[in-house]
Amino acid sequence: MIKKILMCSPDYFDIEYEINPWMNKQNQVQSDEAKKQWNTLYDVYKNKLGWDVKLINPIEKLPDMVFTANGALVIKGKVALPTFRAPDRQPETEYFRKWFESNGYSEFIEPKYDFEGEGDALLWNNTLFAGYPWRSDQASHKELENFFGIKIVPIQLADARFYHLDTCLTIVNETTVAVWTKAFTEESLDIIRKIVPNVIEASDEDTLAYGLNAMSDGENIVLSDKAIGLIEKYREMEMNVYPVPISEYQKSGGGVKCLTLELRS
Ligand code: ARG
Repeated sequence: MIKKILMCSPDYFDIEYEINPWMNKQNQVQSDEAKKQWNTLYDVYKNKLGWDVKLINPIEKLPDMVFTANGALVIKGKVALPTFRAPDRQPETEYFRKWFESNGYSEFIEPKYDFEGEGDALLWNNTLFAGYPWRSDQASHKELENFFGIKIVPIQLADARFYHLDTCLTIVNETTVAVWTKAFTEESLDIIRKIVPNVIEASDEDTLAYGLNAMSDGENIVLSDKAIGLIEKYREMEMNVYPVPISEYQKSGGGVKCLTLELRS
């Protein structure tokens, strides 16, 4: 399946503030390595998978704009823009809005309550799993439900290291998700198990290597090259697996999925 996605080149990617447990200003990004890793991911999407990769211009002093998954949630051409919790990231919203406006999108919502885009909202078939409370507010879910007209299943996150839903849950295919069970409250884990037929459990090692922060189209899956167990599992499922290095982005609490926003028409 050809996906249309949005990425942002890491020209200004850096650790300039600390807004999640992974970020530490003493642990700086190696810019050349970060560019290399981003180019590898871009190349997999564009040339290996043949996906349609759109680009938004990076903006100086907005180091996290590279994480386009937080720049919106797009379903059937309708755009929910982010209401960032951290003031450091709030200026990004207007740049994302401008990109969507100049690329033919016209239906927008900017939730009143905090909502950090696809990073906290993963679409599985017609169900939207929406993470809270670290970076998105549960109150935003009603707004999104009304705007998109789809069913939202709130998922409560319980470990601050996995602060966005896309750091601890992968949509693998129409019947399968992969999760780190400890990332959720018991109730939320039960809900996932009740709704999704196959729930793959990732190991601590794979999860800490950001292996769940992955992009799948059901047949192909792109994920951290350090997530050895998951890579093997997906190969056993006869998926085409594309392991990529993302260590520089993990310094910022990001990985493959965070660097990718789906543009669903
Ligand atoms: N440093 C960024 C932040 O804390 C990382 C964002 C990761 N994005 C994601 N979709 N999980 O906001």
